[in-house]
Amino acid sequence: MNRMPTPTPTASPWLPRTYAVDEIIEEIPNVRTLRLVPETGTAPPFAPGQFNMVYMPGFGEAAISISSGVHELSALAHTIRAAGDVTGALLRLKPGDQLGLRGPFGRSWPLAQIIGNDVLLVAGGIGLAPLRPAIKYLLANRDNFGRLKLIYGSKTPADLLFQSEFAAWTAAGMEIEATVDRGTSAWKGHIGVVTDFMRPFPGRPGQTSVLTCGPEIMMRFVAREAILLGIDPDDIYVSLERNMKCAMGMCGVCQFGPEFICKDGPVFSFGRVAALMKLEDL
Ligand SMILES: Cc1cc2nc3c(=O)[nH]c(=O)nc-3n(C[C@H](O)[C@H](O)[C@H](O)COP(=O)(O)OP(=O)(O)OC[C@H]3O[C@@H](n4cnc5c(N)ncnc54)[C@H](O)[C@@H]3O)c2cc1C
Ligand code: FES
Repeated sequence: MNRMPTPTPTASPWLPRTYAVDEIIEEIPNVRTLRLVPETGTAPPFAPGQFNMVYMPGFGEAAISISSGVHELSALAHTIRAAGDVTGALLRLKPGDQLGLRGPFGRSWPLAQIIGNDVLLVAGGIGLAPLRPAIKYLLANRDNFGRLKLIYGSKTPADLLFQSEFAAWTAAGMEIEATVDRGTSAWKGHIGVVTDFMRPFPGRPGQTSVLTCGPEIMMRFVAREAILLGIDPDDIYVSLERNMKCAMGMCGVCQFGPEFICKDGPVFSFGRVAALMKLEDL
């Protein structure tokens, strides 16, 4: 068994540690992956689904999930979409530029808990980034899990993240269904929303876990469909996003009912947050 490293935050979780941009990967329009190397030593261990607070001098901090595998500690990947000031500035960085990281923070996907299960991963858009370390972990430990299936949706074929890795993931034992809202003449995959491809359900009753990340409305429909298919809400895991500041459960900026998304999440069982996610409609 490929053991999961024990996540440890930086010496002072308030102080960003200096990293340099080692490589920039153009992923899809408006999204780049920055591979970041620490100025000294190696990056701290983390678990799939955890995030760092990425500090861009002169702009501020943004919560960004780690998108590389847990054993790739010489450089940490962060896959970033330009949404505003901080993320926009991060996407203008060049190789060799410096920035700060503090973390890792938050609860991870419960991979040790779901050993032996079939695992259905459902992602939308950039939501595949926080799931990529989980995918790498599941495939590196393929024999410890049952059927593995990824259903991934985006707006157009050009918006599908990490497409160049799909063949390797399939060869390693992950079934993949990619779907888009709007196809092109060259697109041979599915057209439709991710929930269209959850039937027939790929998992064994009582031995299936669902991990989902993407727009909140998508995760709610995924959870609803999974429950209709007989999955217990506590076997469905969602990764939630809210604005963040301290990332340590102290400032209250990310509060979601009684939960702090930074420290109680970002990964929650749907059973724990279902009522809160519905209340947000009111
Ligand atoms: C745990 C966690 C993990 C994340 N992982 C990633 C990731 O891997 N890649 C990535 O590109 N982004 C990720 N995000 C979202 C990212 O943190 C925000 O896009 C970023 O903070 C926006 O900051 P900004 O200064 O660029 O934009 P701002 O100028 O602050 O905001 C731009 C717009 O985005 C909205 N916004 C800001 N923060 C958030 C947020 N957290 N959730 C939803 N809307 C927000 C604002 O309300 C505004 O409408 C994650 C967020 C969280 C909480
Ligand atoms: S970001 Fe401060 S409590 Fe969560």
